[in-house]
Amino acid sequence: TQAPVNVTVTGAAGQIGYALLFRIASGQLLGPDTPVKLRLLEIPQAVKAAEGTALELEDCAFPLLAGTDIFDDAKRAFEGTNIALLVGARPRTKGMERADLLEANGGIFKPQGEAINAGAADDVRVLVVGNPANTNALIAQSHAPDVPAERFTAMTRLDHNRAVAQLSKKLNAPVSEIRKLTIWGNHSASQYPDIFHAEVGGRNAAEAVNDEKWLAEEFIPRVAKRGAEIIEARGASSAASAANAAIDHIHTWVNGTAEGDWTSMAVPSDGSYGVPEGLISSFPVVCKGGKYEIVQGLEINEFSRGRIDASVAELTEEREAVKKLGLI
Ligand code: NAI
Repeated sequence: TQAPVNVTVTGAAGQIGYALLFRIASGQLLGPDTPVKLRLLEIPQAVKAAEGTALELEDCAFPLLAGTDIFDDAKRAFEGTNIALLVGARPRTKGMERADLLEANGGIFKPQGEAINAGAADDVRVLVVGNPANTNALIAQSHAPDVPAERFTAMTRLDHNRAVAQLSKKLNAPVSEIRKLTIWGNHSASQYPDIFHAEVGGRNAAEAVNDEKWLAEEFIPRVAKRGAEIIEARGASSAASAANAAIDHIHTWVNGTAEGDWTSMAVPSDGSYGVPEGLISSFPVVCKGGKYEIVQGLEINEFSRGRIDASVAELTEEREAVKKLGLI
């Protein structure tokens, strides 16, 4: 049988962690033939809670779970890791300025980048979920100079899935018939969910919708502000759907996108579509053979151009801010 794949999850005792770990251990991250070893990273105060989750993992008797280790030290947590899911982050609290938020997260993602650089496996793949995800990924990446830059990604798959679901409802078409939807830019309210290249049952989605007002005034803001809608309804932020998207992101990266489809991932820009090189921005990507590639040559109309540029401008500002703070 195959040797277990080491999966490190940070913020393991948090609410996304709780929704995520059981699905990883059951085989949904890497498939039914791949055993996994979990390496959980938490802050010291939350180690006990993570230990509690580990007891429950044990009680599931997952055939694919080769063990669970818990750490409060990043260097050890990332030793030999093949898949690193960076979920734990410092949330924005009342009265916190953006610079404070970026600085607090720098204190988390800089040492984690260093630890990945020092000890992760050669094939390590990194997904940053913790917000501000794109810029946290940039910070971690900049402290891991020996790891190929393209292994650092941030999650916009939840936004992608939300957009697919909203489009499916609007057109009364099953989600399985929707392809080639794209989230561009930052995982923030400025993100741009683009249906101009999307297809519904083989037909162009924007043409099928044929309602620019709905697009501009309902679809885009609904997807971009869905996080707030969930908090309002649930009294807690989205956790199960975020965990589901993290599973999807890694599963697609490792196993590939379906023929004739693509997905959305925030990845280091190579300058495509006018996105400054190095920014970790969401793009349409095709995954094959364990690698992703940014889809090239899409025509960007005026409606899309302005929205992509606005979100990318926000990413540029975030990059400037963390540069100023000496975090990259
Ligand atoms: P949570 O607050 O329930 O859990 C976060 C956990 O991270 C806590 O257990 C905390 O102890 C831990 N943590 C804090 N600093 C750490 C460190 N230095 N090392 C290891 N662990 C550390 O939060 P939740 O709901 O699980 O969300 C986690 C993050 O994911 C948040 O930043 C949230 O904004 C983000 N998120 C991102 C989404 C996306 O689409 N990219 C979607 C939903 C949430």
